[in-house]
Amino acid sequence: MIRARGLARSFTTRRRTVEAVKGVDIDVSEGELVGFLGPNGAGKTTTLRMLTTLLRPTAGEATVGGCDLRKDPLGVRRRIGYVAQGGGTAAECKVTEEIELQGRLYGLTKAAALSRGAELTEQLDLSGLDQRLTKTLSGGQRRRLDIALSLIHDPKLLFFDEPTTGLDPQSRANLWDHIRRLRSEHGVTLFLTTHYLDEADSLCDRILVIDNGEIVAEGTPDSLKSRVSGDGVTVGVPEGSVVVAAEIAGQLPGAHEVTTVDTAVTFRVPRGDTAMPELLRALDSAGIAMTSVQVQRPTLDDVFLTLTGRSLRDAEEGAKPKEAVHA
Ligand SMILES: Nc1ncnc2c1ncn2[C@@H]1O[C@H](COP(=O)(O)OP(=O)(O)OP(=O)(O)O)[C@@H](O)[C@H]1O
Ligand SMILES: [Mg+2]
Repeated sequence: MIRARGLARSFTTRRRTVEAVKGVDIDVSEGELVGFLGPNGAGKTTTLRMLTTLLRPTAGEATVGGCDLRKDPLGVRRRIGYVAQGGGTAAECKVTEEIELQGRLYGLTKAAALSRGAELTEQLDLSGLDQRLTKTLSGGQRRRLDIALSLIHDPKLLFFDEPTTGLDPQSRANLWDHIRRLRSEHGVTLFLTTHYLDEADSLCDRILVIDNGEIVAEGTPDSLKSRVSGDGVTVGVPEGSVVVAAEIAGQLPGAHEVTTVDTAVTFRVPRGDTAMPELLRALDSAGIAMTSVQVQRPTLDDVFLTLTGRSLRDAEEGAKPKEAVHA
């Protein structure tokens, strides 16, 4: 459904040139739900705007929905639905007017637009809101309206740019259900951006991780997580024992990335659960009583940290990379 090769876009402002997307290759098959994950400014929206014909690539080529991006942009537009990061509804319009306008833009008659609209609003839990001004809808309702509008011409390929950003956890979960249903009941192919790791993990068949305009990893959530070697373990010890405890932890078979923070030692081992008894015995014979312990399976955030040297959350907050005591 999507095949992009070397797709790139740079922006020249007065002062400098920003290479927002640096030649990405993307392949998405029919029926896939693919997540495009990356921190703020990574190049997600720019890539999506290129694939949806809204922005001309500086270099590269792509076929979207079987149509060549450069030679047949109209063909691409007919086959896709797009939900922009900031939404696309006009504040002073009624829901029904937005639906009618969107339908007419795609060549439907007024009656056809309204009947298709009624079908979609029901599917997306928006029944009874037709006469409301879009500015009076809640954030979650407005996002579902954006999605309904993107579906008016029954496209088989959808691009959603951060569909759930700004929604509360319940509305996010509700929207995930709608997104899953679009795929299971309507057989659509979905390409969505997010910077929520849990979202990408639970929703997507496959994830592309973009950072600084380059794709730094690609795979199923599980295969990406398996690239992080081992479980993360955090052990609390009494004050003054942390240095010795870190040395002991570092001697466990396969232990690596040993760091200390205050009175806690964190490290990775191939299997956290089986390493625990041995660690407990070793600490015991050194006279150190463990005060707490936590074992965590790798997360997508760990993948990002392994790949880029910084956490996805740090990247968003602009924080400095964490430094390891022992590597
Ligand atoms: N029209 C533009 N002019 C100049 N620079 C731009 C323009 N659009 C995007 N950029 C820059 O390109 C880079 C990538 O931006 P983009 O919007 O694609 O990021 P993003 O991954 O969607 O981020 P976010 O998570 O914040 O939405 C950023 O550095 C941004 O400032
Ligand atoms: Mg964006």
